[in-house]
Amino acid sequence: MVAILENPLRVGLQQERTPEPLIMVIFGASGDLTQRKLIPAIYQLKKERRLPPEITIVGIARRDWSDDFFREHLRQGVEEFGNGIDSEELWKDFAEGIFYFSGNMDQPESYEQMKALLSELDGKRGTRGNRVFYLAVSPKFFKPALKNLGAAGMLAEPLKQRIVIEKPFGRDFSTAKSLNKVVQKVCDEKQVYRIDHYLGKETVQNILVFRFANAIFEPLWNRQFVDHVQITVAESVGVEDRAGYYETAGALRDMVQNHLLQLLAITAMEPPNALDADSIRNEKTKVLQTTNIADIKNLERAAVRGQYAAGWMRGKPVKGYREEEGVNPESITPTFVALKLAVDNWRWKGVPFYLRTGKMMPKKVTEISIHFREVPLLIFQSAAQQASPNILSMRIQPNEGISLRFEAKMPGPQLRARTVNMDFSYGSSFGMSTADAYHRLLLDCMLGDQTLFTRADEVEEAWRVVTPVLNAWEAPTDPALVPQYEAGTWQPTEAEFLIERDGRRWRRL
Ligand code: BG6
Repeated sequence: MVAILENPLRVGLQQERTPEPLIMVIFGASGDLTQRKLIPAIYQLKKERRLPPEITIVGIARRDWSDDFFREHLRQGVEEFGNGIDSEELWKDFAEGIFYFSGNMDQPESYEQMKALLSELDGKRGTRGNRVFYLAVSPKFFKPALKNLGAAGMLAEPLKQRIVIEKPFGRDFSTAKSLNKVVQKVCDEKQVYRIDHYLGKETVQNILVFRFANAIFEPLWNRQFVDHVQITVAESVGVEDRAGYYETAGALRDMVQNHLLQLLAITAMEPPNALDADSIRNEKTKVLQTTNIADIKNLERAAVRGQYAAGWMRGKPVKGYREEEGVNPESITPTFVALKLAVDNWRWKGVPFYLRTGKMMPKKVTEISIHFREVPLLIFQSAAQQASPNILSMRIQPNEGISLRFEAKMPGPQLRARTVNMDFSYGSSFGMSTADAYHRLLLDCMLGDQTLFTRADEVEEAWRVVTPVLNAWEAPTDPALVPQYEAGTWQPTEAEFLIERDGRRWRRL
């Protein structure tokens, strides 16, 4: 009889741990992120019994709210944006651990008062001095909040106190570096959890499993077999009510520096030595260190921006970006970016990575596709009259799954080939939908697992990659020179040239 040996590492990873009792202190508690994402995710964790009974939440913002008002506001969030409240008893138990503190993030006195409140709560709720400080605030408050937390001695115990920092982490290479300096002054890197919610998506984590738990793909995953890689993150929404923020950010800061470069790093990285945070982050950082805009001297050949113009979405007319409320009518902020990047290492030298992301595109879809080289010789007649190279596509969202495009013989007496797809779908294979990214990320930071959070050097490298483009695009420009694409279409023609010039095409999604 064959004995099946368990892999001890696997067994370890499968054990579900529960975080220590702690207080989650949310800065920016009256904002959208808290109501829409953070609290619905924490409540879901509570429902799943993944949190200790002592779990306590303290919300901080400037508005003069009471505990009860705050609790009601969060309840509405769970009902509207989360999975609802099935048990009044459970909600009551959860709500009893929620508190509101009205304070000013710029004022050191607020921190002293907060500190006193937190130690009082330690006594009442048994949270033992354990804290997760969550900066769900506008980036301009990151530095003052960090400095004040540091000065109040609230980050002095690395084993008990952690800090979560939302994006964007910096505005470019030098501001990210300077923010990292402040972080490093007040705490240890082990305490820092820089959020990129794409890393919390199941399908993004699955890239690692797909690549490194299967023997058959990895040998092909290199310049010998891969012609190029495309990464698309398309959104069907516009700027919505975030014009104030978006005008200062644009698609390059909002999406490329973080989400798209993280997808690139995970797709291109070498196998890590182990599954711990640093082994994985080391490999991602190494990829980013060798990544550059493909043609830095001819930037317009490797980087294209665009802005959505008025058009149609799902049969309805929509405004162009410059007509949106709060947007400068002469704005040059890009809502679309296409880049050609080079990853100059042993594995990928010469294999272009084409990235594109935009708002108001025909549909919401995030996909990474690996385009393999053509067969050397076409010996069969093909329905398409040309070779269709194999494409492995990883659908991050929606319709999460993986598909492989290959050629098959068409039925009939002739030996003719046609392109077909082999599909794996998360929904039908696992019979469940994937959880929200914040659900996973919040649990991980409470458990002290940094794997899915970005490290200081990694974030700086990602900024280094995009900073030459930021500089070029932020130089004064005639607004008429910013390429436009009609809302509801895929991209400006300039972005088509970017890839077609190389004899390739964007994938039709
Ligand atoms: C956020 C950006 O980080 O990601 C938004 O600030 C964008 O502009 C969002 O809409 C997209 O996230 P998702 O998970 O819907 O793809």
